[in-house]
Amino acid sequence: MSDTIFIVGGNGYIGSHTNLLLLDKGYKTVVLDKQQPEYLVNLPGWIWEEADLQNLASLESVFLKYNPKAVIHFAASIEVAESQINPQKYYFNNVVGTLNLLKVMNDFGVRNLVFSSTAAVYGLPKHIPINENDQTKPINTYGKTKLVVENILEDYYHSYGLKSVILRYFNACGADHLGRSGECHEPESHLIPILLEVASGKRPEFGIYGDDYETLDGTCIRDYIHVEDLATAHLAALEGLLDEKLSFEKINLGTGSGFSVKEIVEKAKQITKKNIAIKISERRAGDPDKLIASNQKAKELLEWKPQKSDLDTIILSAWNWLNRK
Ligand code: UFG
Repeated sequence: MSDTIFIVGGNGYIGSHTNLLLLDKGYKTVVLDKQQPEYLVNLPGWIWEEADLQNLASLESVFLKYNPKAVIHFAASIEVAESQINPQKYYFNNVVGTLNLLKVMNDFGVRNLVFSSTAAVYGLPKHIPINENDQTKPINTYGKTKLVVENILEDYYHSYGLKSVILRYFNACGADHLGRSGECHEPESHLIPILLEVASGKRPEFGIYGDDYETLDGTCIRDYIHVEDLATAHLAALEGLLDEKLSFEKINLGTGSGFSVKEIVEKAKQITKKNIAIKISERRAGDPDKLIASNQKAKELLEWKPQKSDLDTIILSAWNWLNRK
């Protein structure tokens, strides 16, 4: 077994920031992905192997070549709305793809996995903040696919000794402090990038999806967590597995505080010093009023706490990323 860590989906948003952190810390990593955006080409130490989770042979050949000791698995389809229209794509990419990866990990005796899950596994929470032991009842196919994989991982731990740390992200946002990576979804559906595109003149106006929710100002409240804080949690989870301190855990990654859409809009105006045209649009299907994590477990088990998840740092880093040369 080599020292290599596989970062599956490492050319994507959260994966690329985690890979940057591991490289900065001196880890030997290899990204497995289907594609690579231009901005990651030529970054020092960035090794990318083209691999497709739907293709077992492509996975086997990279496992044979590098013999990794652990895998961090980010690769997934992540659009809630699309998952409702095209569940087949989500079950294939997120569930079948992961089953293939786990099969190859089992075949090659790789026993350590950090897995990207989501707050969407909880569905409509009964209370706030949300604890890891709270009911999981996803209300969209995206969340269901992640929950299916969580259950598979539990069985694989008990039956095969494949250890995993499942990280349930709340709202990932922000960008690398050196501007090497940032949020770039295609198409973009997330609040902060869309808002900043309006501030920069790339979009005419910003639509708030409903202002009649059960919150103080009527707009939805979310727990926004800087992507570099997510990256440090992945590193802690990886080290916990490798040091045999962790074996099977589900851990929320959030700040424990929430902000409304209107609060984010105000902060974006303040940071960018731009006028942002707003309209109130229809509610978007499947948006709960309020999602806030309890991050007690992450603090205890990962000895982690968010360092960069204040709104100023989040929005400024995202704004710098959008305006990169
Ligand atoms: N919003 C708007 N207008 C927009 C975009 C978003 O008002 O143009 C609002 C949404 O209604 C929501 C908030 O801004 O209230 C945040 O929306 P995002 O789309 O940025 O994020 P979500 O909370 O919908 O989704 C995130 C992740 C998902 C994950 C989910 C877990 O991106 O992958 O949290 O609940 F499933």
